[in-house]
Amino acid sequence: MMGKARVIVTGGSGKAGQWILKHFVENEYEVINLDVKAPAEPICRTIITDLNDLGQVHNALSAFSSGNRQEVAGIVHFAAIPQAYTHTNDVCFRNNVMSTYNILEAAANLGIKKVVLASSESSYGICFASEFMEPQYVPIDEAHPQLPEDSYGLSKVVNEVTAQAFHRRTGMQVISFRLGNILVPENYAELKANFDNTEARLRILWSYIDARDVASACLKAIEVDGLGAEALIIAADDSSSNRLTRDLVAQYLPGVKDIRSSLEGRTSLISNAKAKKLLDWEPKFHLMEQS
Ligand SMILES: NC(=O)c1ccc[n+]([C@@H]2O[C@H](COP(=O)([O-])OP(=O)(O)OC[C@H]3O[C@@H](n4cnc5c(N)ncnc54)[C@H](O)[C@@H]3O)[C@@H](O)[C@H]2O)c1
Repeated sequence: MMGKARVIVTGGSGKAGQWILKHFVENEYEVINLDVKAPAEPICRTIITDLNDLGQVHNALSAFSSGNRQEVAGIVHFAAIPQAYTHTNDVCFRNNVMSTYNILEAAANLGIKKVVLASSESSYGICFASEFMEPQYVPIDEAHPQLPEDSYGLSKVVNEVTAQAFHRRTGMQVISFRLGNILVPENYAELKANFDNTEARLRILWSYIDARDVASACLKAIEVDGLGAEALIIAADDSSSNRLTRDLVAQYLPGVKDIRSSLEGRTSLISNAKAKKLLDWEPKFHLMEQS
């Protein structure tokens, strides 16, 4: 008898991952979490797995893929060191690149056909640049050059290229989410209390995305068919500043002359238009409505 649809989530013990686990469970998936640590709240089964070790990845995935149950719908790979300079550069690069390579290699070998990867707005290079670098145009979209100097941003660019290679090798659908700064419900009060410190979020171009909207995008990306290897910006419609976007650009990004939209109101400087179109996805959790 066919059971529930199955999905594997990596990094499910982390900030975004816990919301992703919950969302798939709520949507009647059988979910397994692969992480080096257990989650604070046991939402589903976790197998402690170091994704740097291909043997462990294979073993964990094949345990979940075997038998005559329904095939694995896909893998949502969020495990990573999630920023630059918390670890040495080489450790961050190796962890993020090898864990992603191993997930894709094992998925290819086991015939898993869909993978979602957590990439980042940091792949554009602005966030962790040693000298502040303005975007070449706004709103940034997926065609904007990715110019990281840090090993975290570089790891995300490499992972997107690895995704393309695996798509060529096996035809698997690999969608890389260039995520804005992820917020969970407990982040909103502090963020709003610091609205006056506008510059604090300049490096992320005031981007944000609620973890619950990340989770809904993951589900859409596992359920959609025929996308190949795509990078999609996953960000809110609006910015995480209380100021008008046009004023932010005038004050903090004076060198940006190529302005490609009317920048109405508090609109985001990183565009989610492609994700909305290809995934039929809408972010629903808006900063100004959260307390
Ligand atoms: N937090 C953000 O604002 C943000 C923004 C853009 C992109 N991202 C990306 O989203 C993803 C999730 O970010 P997060 O903030 O939830 O991070 P997090 O650190 O809270 O969670 C990441 C999880 O990955 C696990 N992990 C790391 N390396 C592992 C390995 N080798 N094997 C097994 N597990 C491993 C960690 O134990 C942790 O539970 C990451 O890929 C990150 O780069 C995050």
